Amino acid sequence: MKFFIDTANLDQIKEAQDLGVLDGVTTNPSLMAKEGITGRENIINHYKKICEIVDGDVSAEVIATDFDGIIKEGEELAKLHDQIVVKVPMIKEGIKAIKYFSDKGIRTNCTLVFSAGQALLAAKAGATYVSPFIGRLDDISTDGLNLIADIRLIYDNYGFETEILAASVRHSMHILECAKIGADVMTGPLSSIESLLKHPLTDSGLAKFLEDYNKGN
Ligand code: E4P
Repeated sequence: MKFFIDTANLDQIKEAQDLGVLDGVTTNPSLMAKEGITGRENIINHYKKICEIVDGDVSAEVIATDFDGIIKEGEELAKLHDQIVVKVPMIKEGIKAIKYFSDKGIRTNCTLVFSAGQALLAAKAGATYVSPFIGRLDDISTDGLNLIADIRLIYDNYGFETEILAASVRHSMHILECAKIGADVMTGPLSSIESLLKHPLTDSGLAKFLEDYNKGN
């Protein structure tokens, strides 16, 4: 399972990269705005900085919602760096654009996916990644993990190569359940990755080992 961090915060990206388990980064316009990164030029420069920190795929989202606009923006983003994956929303024009990009060898991440039907379309169009948002489904009392399981089944039935990128991950149980189901990738905040580290028996066990070691020294 690949681990992506879902942030535009450079310190957190560095911290995750230093942990040695990071495979990529996802961003979106809200995450950019949260870091105060606004305006086309600043956003482009920020993507370049992220690519310098991370060894792996970096999703960069288009703002346009019409076919020509998505193509223009996506081609500009793809030219920035080999690691860039063009993030395209799950809308009719987006599906057309994903097919276009796929034919041109430009990698894509189909975002804002909330149903298995949408994920099937994204795979048919040749998306590199599909991003079902599990946390946001949970927020409206719908089990996001069921969606991951449905997409896994459908993709395996037909041998689709589109990777399932479980997005809107909020905590360690989301990651573990996605791993059991067979999601290819998870993306979440640094806290969700670091929460995998924690167990009270590890803490108390280590404290006891250190205490006993110090008795003999
Ligand atoms: C995915 O690529 C999105 O950036 C993200 O996972 C959305 O998560 P949120 O629901 O926590 O905003």
